[in-house]
Amino acid sequence: MGRVSGRSCIVTGAARGIGRAIGEALLDEGADVCFADINGESLMAVEEHNRDRADRNGGRVTHAVVDVTKRDQVRTMIAHTVSVFGKLDVKFNNAGVNRPMNFLDVTEENWNFIMSVNGLGCLIGMQEAAKQMISQKTGGKIINTTSIAGRQGFDNVAPTAHRRLV
Ligand SMILES: NC(=O)c1ccc[n+]([C@@H]2O[C@H](COP(=O)([O-])OP(=O)(O)OC[C@H]3O[C@@H](n4cnc5c(N)ncnc54)[C@H](O)[C@@H]3O)[C@@H](O)[C@H]2O)c1
Repeated sequence: MGRVSGRSCIVTGAARGIGRAIGEALLDEGADVCFADINGESLMAVEEHNRDRADRNGGRVTHAVVDVTKRDQVRTMIAHTVSVFGKLDVKFNNAGVNRPMNFLDVTEENWNFIMSVNGLGCLIGMQEAAKQMISQKTGGKIINTTSIAGRQGFDNVAPTAHRRLV
């Protein structure tokens, strides 16, 4: 029995990198995991790759294509997860982007792109997960990936340094 057996989890930004590793670690601990990302093609391969891992550990795996900046898509992702796993216990808001630029060169486009995913995406993700968890009356955990750039300034990642203030 793993440490999170029977828990239903969504991890965003899970088609690769840190999000994928988090999803796989949760599967290793027996969880049911929905790998969610804007990159649908990679997600299919991630689900396929992890089916045996889920079986071995008594969990289940699914995926959802989502743009975390779009509230309707986030709602659909949560509804899909609840329809497959029966509930939502853990929401990991991990999707994030970065386009490093020297501070004086940062444009509104660069700022808005980064803040929409890293800031607004987190806000929507927390709100919609919380609504589901409140309606279930079971509590839950909401976790946001942040960055060391939120604590320490760097000259080429100004929008990232302002991230995750929510
Ligand atoms: N890797 C690092 O050194 C580092 C450092 C500090 C913070 N972080 C943060 O950790 C998290 C994961 O980083 P990573 O290195 O694994 O990044 P990554 O670029 O490898 O993966 C990010 C994933 O998020 C997805 N994504 C991007 N925009 C999305 C959107 N609008 N909706 C849904 N999915 C979207 C991408 O398709 C990608 O699969 C990010 O939030 C990142 O900002 C990473």
